[in-house]
Amino acid sequence: MDTLAGMKRTHSCGALTAADAGTEVILCGWVSRQRDHGGLIFIDLRDRSGTVQLVFSPEINQAALLKADGVRTEYVLSVRGAVRLRSPETVNPAMETGAIEVCGEEIRILNPAKTPPFYIQDNVDVDETVRLKYRYLDLRRPEMQHNLILRHRVAKTMRDFFDSRDFIEVETPMLTKSTPEGARDYLVPSRVNPGKFYALPQSPQIFKQILMVAGYERYFQIVRCFRDEDLRADRQPEFTQLDVEMSFVERDDVLAIMEKMIAEVFKVAIGAELSLPMRRLSYDEAMEKFGSDKPDLRFDMEIFDLSEAMRGSDFKVFESVLAAGGKIKGINVKGNAAIPRRELDGLVNYVGQYGAKGLAWIGYTAEGLKSQISKFFSDEQLDKIRLTAQAEEGDLVLIIADKPAVAVNAMGQLRLEMARRMNLIDPDKLAFAWVLDFPMFEYDEEEKRYVAMHHPFTSPRDEDIQYLETEPGRIKAKAYDMVLNGTEIGGGSIRIFQRDVQEKVFKAIGLTEEEANEKFGYLLEAFEFGTPPHGGIAFGLDRLIMLMAKRSSIRDVIAFPKTQSATDLMSQAPSEVSLRQLKELSIRTEVAAKKTQK
Ligand code: AMO
Ligand code: AMP
Repeated sequence: MDTLAGMKRTHSCGALTAADAGTEVILCGWVSRQRDHGGLIFIDLRDRSGTVQLVFSPEINQAALLKADGVRTEYVLSVRGAVRLRSPETVNPAMETGAIEVCGEEIRILNPAKTPPFYIQDNVDVDETVRLKYRYLDLRRPEMQHNLILRHRVAKTMRDFFDSRDFIEVETPMLTKSTPEGARDYLVPSRVNPGKFYALPQSPQIFKQILMVAGYERYFQIVRCFRDEDLRADRQPEFTQLDVEMSFVERDDVLAIMEKMIAEVFKVAIGAELSLPMRRLSYDEAMEKFGSDKPDLRFDMEIFDLSEAMRGSDFKVFESVLAAGGKIKGINVKGNAAIPRRELDGLVNYVGQYGAKGLAWIGYTAEGLKSQISKFFSDEQLDKIRLTAQAEEGDLVLIIADKPAVAVNAMGQLRLEMARRMNLIDPDKLAFAWVLDFPMFEYDEEEKRYVAMHHPFTSPRDEDIQYLETEPGRIKAKAYDMVLNGTEIGGGSIRIFQRDVQEKVFKAIGLTEEEANEKFGYLLEAFEFGTPPHGGIAFGLDRLIMLMAKRSSIRDVIAFPKTQSATDLMSQAPSEVSLRQLKELSIRTEVAAKKTQK
């Protein structure tokens, strides 16, 4: 007899309502809970759609009751029975199907189960390593199912959006030549080309540009990317991008269509209405006011500059910072003047992590200024400080003097920390923004050369191209990021489409002509065969869904993620391979060599 003969599912557990009362149904699912009430057995049966209560009693069916007695958590069952309304006192409003129950008339155990290492329910307090090892059990939990279903909805909405606007999805190769997106490559040895390696793509950047050369005009792809970089809560070694490229467009065309797409996704997937156009701010403004190129705009607390107001005081530390070209930055933490001294001292350590050498404060209390530095300033200076800070009684002004980059970054971090401590961040708010006009290059102190801030295919602003050979540091790029609640969810640019400009940019980042040709010769050559002006963007799908699902880790929205050390705890990847496999690939590893010596 076939496993399911006569017991094929007719209804989903979570879909049953009072309207189904009297209907005979067959349900299939997992036992979420089994309770024995002395002659009466209740089972909560769970499938992907939800959970419903089954009841077994001698009055309904004695044989089914006996079988239900032997059932344990996570057994897989098929159950036949009639839906009935619960009596008013047993209605469970906390349960979607709490108005009804199913009277178990026949039960078939499709498969028993071992006792799971943790409860299959939301908010389980269990170590993540256990969840990852038993990922199939973790994914059975309703909140994880919710996340993956949300992910599906988002991807579907994106595909529909682009399809209806004449974009086509094109697949690009996974075995590629390395593209420099700033991280290390994952390499794959080629058996038939001994000593040679493919790189897994860090992004399809060059391929999508080549597709524009090829005349495809509007491309998108939901695509896996691989980056061997240090992992954090919002980074994975393999992650998914929504990748887009368009021909014959300028920056604002890309921004307009992409924010429409994001608004559509939020509406369809989570019912949120975004107001468009999104706020736009330049990189300089974002750094100046929020100390970050991915500002969290769910709250204000803008950073201000106190350098002028404080110049010429008796405080030697600040005077020497200013004399060395440094800056003095401040924030006004409204209504926080009564903060205990202990907490202030803790904040000094906090900003220390970001390289700030100290933290000063002025508390505007009813009894006057509470500050370790106010004595160094004249009344006139104190007035200026108060005015710049727009400080009122009860406010606390926090001050950092340092090299400009350090002062700005540490103040940006302090702004976030103070907002967290004061509960200023509304978790339901969605604060989107575009950050524009990024610098084209940043100077890498370690490598002693300029590196592209986005990537080297990004076009400088037309008026800045003249500085490519002389002053790369002052060039702004046609690059843009979309930021949501302090996380960069997407980044892109208008591209270089002329060979000579591209060659100059390669030169500016220290590539010789030979290196540029060896690495990107095919792109440079393609530029000579009729390349349209083009630009695009890529969104981090995992990050986007993490924010939509209000999770703090992208691992919660990826079915089978890796740990911080890039391992899969369930399958135990990466793993060693046999010497024979290595030999076929003409590879000798130091680890393998040591083993054979033993
Ligand atoms: P970029 O490198 O900015 O641009 O990547 C685009 C977006 O991908 C997400 N992201 C990641 N998500 C999870 N884990 C990671 N390790 C990770 N790295 C990046 C971020 C980021 O905004 N080719 C260009 C795009 C373009 O210019 O069109 C690119 O890859 O959300
Ligand atoms: P000092 O004279 O070094 O003891 O500093 C007096 C106060 O100023 C201390 O509370 C320091 O935390 C603070 N301070 C020192 N250096 C800085 C700085 N670079 N920026 C802001 N505050 C500072």
